[in-house]
Amino acid sequence: MRQAGRFLPEYRKIRDKHSLIDICKDPELCAEVTTLPVDVLGVDAAILFADIMLPLEGIGVKFNIADGVGPVVTSPLIDFQSVNSLTTLEPDSDVPYVMEAISATKKLLDSRVPLIGFCGAPFTLASYLIEGLRTRDFVKTKKLMYRNPETWHLLMDKLSTSMGTYLRAQVNAGADAVQVFDSWIGCLSPADYHTYVLPYSQRVFSYLEGRAIPRIHFGTGTATMLDEMRQAGGDVFSIDWRIPIDVAWQKLGHDRAIQGNLDPVVLLAGSDLIRVKTADILTRVGNRPGHIFNLGHGILPETPQENVKQLVEFVHEYTKTRGQP
Ligand code: CP3
Repeated sequence: MRQAGRFLPEYRKIRDKHSLIDICKDPELCAEVTTLPVDVLGVDAAILFADIMLPLEGIGVKFNIADGVGPVVTSPLIDFQSVNSLTTLEPDSDVPYVMEAISATKKLLDSRVPLIGFCGAPFTLASYLIEGLRTRDFVKTKKLMYRNPETWHLLMDKLSTSMGTYLRAQVNAGADAVQVFDSWIGCLSPADYHTYVLPYSQRVFSYLEGRAIPRIHFGTGTATMLDEMRQAGGDVFSIDWRIPIDVAWQKLGHDRAIQGNLDPVVLLAGSDLIRVKTADILTRVGNRPGHIFNLGHGILPETPQENVKQLVEFVHEYTKTRGQP
């Protein structure tokens, strides 16, 4: 994850001149920013430069992305009326620039690495729409879910349909894999996940059924709900650092791939600790196929670029000598 590609000086220079949304809406510039980490760090995949909130503009949501805060929704959803007024996303007319950015990025990458498209999962999007901005306790979100189930289900229904269509459009435009970000799902109990979320995340994934496209299901704080997430769908499950990767694999089953699971804060330490923590993850993985080495959540803005480069080199070296591809 590099949502904070913001830690790259090359990115900061571009951001000094353009807002985040401006970058997203300029396909050539977006392609340039998307490929930066591949060129500078040597990572094995590119993730489209966009934000989970971007497509919501197309369904009638006004927001901005504030420095150091993240998405801020102008008029948070409070009742049935406000949810009912949301429209359904038409990707080709609402977010044509996303599809154009995918084509431009594919050209620039020239098959060096795959391009990952993405969307926010219905729950995580709903939490921003209801709370207005990032929260610690998700009280407003859960209150609406418990007290106003009809409104909740209508919102999740609308979001899942729009996000399924959005992902499918990204794949049609050339995305080689997709990732569904349910960043804040760990605030729910497994039982509530089952009732209020699972059917909708399942619907998002169902839009790609029958397509030979790897689907990554991302979440944090999910140690107790991996089996529920598996039911919702995906080929790869992203785990944070709160669960050892071998334990997560036992819970998920060995027919699924795993992405993770280094704590992003480790990258603020010295190279010795980075190596120890990374080697521990890779040892726990052993010779199992289907591991995407990654951080458990977004990279921190103050991360030294040199540490990330060393991490990428170390993982490549380690897995090569272990005889893995
Ligand atoms: O952190 C989370 O998981 C929350 C949900 C989320 C947001 N955006 C809200 C947000 C997720 C998963 C994203 C995805 C995202 N945003 C991606 C793809 C995945 C990845 O991480 O690579 C990308 C490329 C973006 C683009 C983006 N959004 C950047 C580069 C930044 C920060 C720097 C900048 O240039 O302004 C954002 C802002 C943003 N969106 C934040 C959050 C929580 C962070 C706000 C901050 O701390 O500055």
